[in-house]
Amino acid sequence: MSVPRRLVFTNRKGGVGKTTTSVNIAAALAHMGFSVLLVDTDPQAHATMSLGISQSDLSGDVSDVAQGRMHAADVLRRTYVPRLKVLPSSRRLSDFERRYANSLEARFWLRKQLEAEMDRHDYTVFDTPPTTQLLTLGALVAGAEAYVPMQAHFLAMEGMIEIIELVEQTRRHYNPILSVRGIIPTFYDQGAAFSEQMMSELRDRLGADVVLPPIRQNRALAEAPGSGHTIFQHNLRSDGALDYYRVAVRIRDMGPPAAE
Ligand SMILES: Nc1ncnc2c1ncn2[C@@H]1O[C@H](COP(=O)(O)OP(=O)(O)O)[C@@H](O)[C@H]1O
Ligand SMILES: [Mg+2]
Repeated sequence: MSVPRRLVFTNRKGGVGKTTTSVNIAAALAHMGFSVLLVDTDPQAHATMSLGISQSDLSGDVSDVAQGRMHAADVLRRTYVPRLKVLPSSRRLSDFERRYANSLEARFWLRKQLEAEMDRHDYTVFDTPPTTQLLTLGALVAGAEAYVPMQAHFLAMEGMIEIIELVEQTRRHYNPILSVRGIIPTFYDQGAAFSEQMMSELRDRLGADVVLPPIRQNRALAEAPGSGHTIFQHNLRSDGALDYYRVAVRIRDMGPPAAE
C-alpha cells in the first residue's frame, strides 16, 4: 500500500459503538493483511482492554508519547491479532487532558510524535473519548479521515451534526487534509421501519456515498470485549463479524482521500 491512511472514529456521545468499531475495523484490516496501529485516546481504555491488554503491565501510554517522554515504538504493544498493534491508553490520560486543556500547542503533539510511526503502518486507527476536548482534537489533528459511528435512531442525528461541524472547524484551523468520510449506523434494528427511514434521511442529507453499511444490533458484539477478543475471534460467524468486515472492505476500497 502506498499512502498510509489515518482513520479517526469519533462521536461526542458515549455508548454509540466508537470503541467496538475502532477495534473491529482495525482487526478486520489486519486480517486482510495490512499493518495496523490502533491508538487508544480514551482514558477509559476500553479499546486497550478489549484486546486483552491489562493496565498493570503497560510500560507507558498515549500521554507519555504525546508529551515526548517516550517513543511510540517503546510503548506500543503487539496483540494476538497478527499485524495489529495498540498504542495503549490508561487513566493517566485524564490528567494529561486536564493539564493541557487550554494549550493550543498540545493539540499538535500527537501528530508530531506519531508521524513516523503512522508512516510505518498501512492504517492508523484512532479510538476517541466521548468529548470534544484535547484528546479528541489531538486525534482529529493527527488523522485524515473521520468516521462517525451513530446509533441508528432519530435522536442521534443532532449529535452527529455537531461532530461534523467540529471536524469542519478542525479542518479549517489545523488540518486541511481532514474530512468526514463516513457515517456508520450502529445498533441497527433490521426490520424496524425507523431504521430504514433513518438510513434514507442520512443519505438525503449527507449523500449516499458517506453512509456506510449499517452494523446490526448483535449480542456477540456486546460479549466479545469481556473475553478480550475481537468479534472475529469471539464468533466469526456472527452478524457482527460479517457487518464489520463489510464496512472494513468498503473503507479499504474507498481508498485514501484525494490529495488537495
Ligand atoms: N452493534 C452492537 N450490538 C450490540 N451491542 C453493541 C453493539 N455495538 C456496541 N455494543 C456494545 O455497546 C456498548 C457500547 O459500545 P462502545 O463501542 O463501547 O461505545 P463507545 O465507545 O461509543 O462508548 C459496549 O458494551 C459494546 O459491547
Ligand atoms: Mg469507547
